Amino acid sequence: MEMKTVDSNIHLDVEAIRLNFPILTKKVNGQTLVYFDNGATVQKPIAVIDAINDYYSHYNANIHRGVHTLSREATELFEQARQTVAAHFRVVNPQQCIFTAGTTDGINMIAQGLAKSILKPGDEILLTAYEHHSNILPWQLWAHENGGVLKVIPLLSNHSLDIDSISTLITAKTKVIAVTQVSNTLGLITPLEPLLKLAKQHGIITVIDGAQAAPHLPVDLTALNPDFFVCSAHKMYGPTGIGLLYMREQWLKTLPMAKTGGGTIKTVSFEKTEYAEGALRFEPGTPHIAGAVGFAAALKFMNAVGVSNIYQHETELVNEAQHQLLQLPEVEIYGQSEHKAGVISFNLKNAHPFDVGTLLDKYGIAVRTGHHCTQPLMQLLGIQGTVRASFAVYNTKAEVHHFIEKLKRVIHLLA
Ligand SMILES: Cc1ncc(COP(=O)(O)O)c(C=O)c1O
Repeated sequence: MEMKTVDSNIHLDVEAIRLNFPILTKKVNGQTLVYFDNGATVQKPIAVIDAINDYYSHYNANIHRGVHTLSREATELFEQARQTVAAHFRVVNPQQCIFTAGTTDGINMIAQGLAKSILKPGDEILLTAYEHHSNILPWQLWAHENGGVLKVIPLLSNHSLDIDSISTLITAKTKVIAVTQVSNTLGLITPLEPLLKLAKQHGIITVIDGAQAAPHLPVDLTALNPDFFVCSAHKMYGPTGIGLLYMREQWLKTLPMAKTGGGTIKTVSFEKTEYAEGALRFEPGTPHIAGAVGFAAALKFMNAVGVSNIYQHETELVNEAQHQLLQLPEVEIYGQSEHKAGVISFNLKNAHPFDVGTLLDKYGIAVRTGHHCTQPLMQLLGIQGTVRASFAVYNTKAEVHHFIEKLKRVIHLLA
């Protein structure tokens, strides 16, 4: 396969970047891998693989409670990782950055904490039509068990969100607005500013699911100032099993813990416990120390490339793919827009997305097919699933063109 990159982007040397990703030379079904499933999880650069290897080779110990050298070193690496995460997201106090198992874990911690403190029967949670199951189910569970109500910001005919409807959806009972910053299925970006402004005016708690935003866009949490923000390292060139839960400083003291145990305390007796302050209060048990180290290495990689450069490059890829797909009458695109974050979703008329994905795999092209954990969105679109191509910094226009060529063959085969 001809893979010479002719990207017009002057900021990025994509060929040099690709050398950082050993997996990209892998052959799949005898073909060079074209990995367009980055929305599910992104590939890892050598810097991240090496950081984790280095941690286990030279520093592995349990943290926070040891006086011996290794334990102190591991603790320092873990807390340095917290500082790197805080700096990346422009958070002044690193204690506001809590390590979780990922986005899903973070949203569950928020929902369960608010359920124990703020939420009352009859209260309303406002979501968007885009939400991933991970930002529906924790709220739905509370609503079903406690007589709560989920309301949904609907879609417009162009599949963007009907943001104007918010003013009528918000009532005196709206306690939480929990929204994804970027739709994992459509790649469309939620206009957060008007939403956050309205929430502030009404004293509503804001939760941002940043799982698909953080890999593609610069996120400044000081400027955005939501109550909560969550994301997953594995979608940001980091390892699986680790993520960020950011919370506004007031919540560090007031949000009830969803889970507790060793590491979260100052003192414990059988009668009572005095809890630690800051992030530790929310990090029971032995954390994913190597994961935190890998997460920090991933953020360093992203910043070395430049998050704005990543966004610009991926936008060029999305727009090129969209432009090419629009030439094919057999293709229907969902959420067509020039302002997307790394994702394009489509179907071939009269073909099941699984068949399209299976045939593309024969050519070594990895795309995701199905409902993308957004079944309610699929219901609104009146479809069962889509084919989703999602891009990362190492993808090239040559790969996009190769994908379009093979898709034409798939169209021919399925005709
Ligand atoms: C928008 C969105 N929210 C939440 C999640 C869940 O992330 P994780 O599986 O890392 O917890 C995903 C994963 O695809 C996502 O795209």
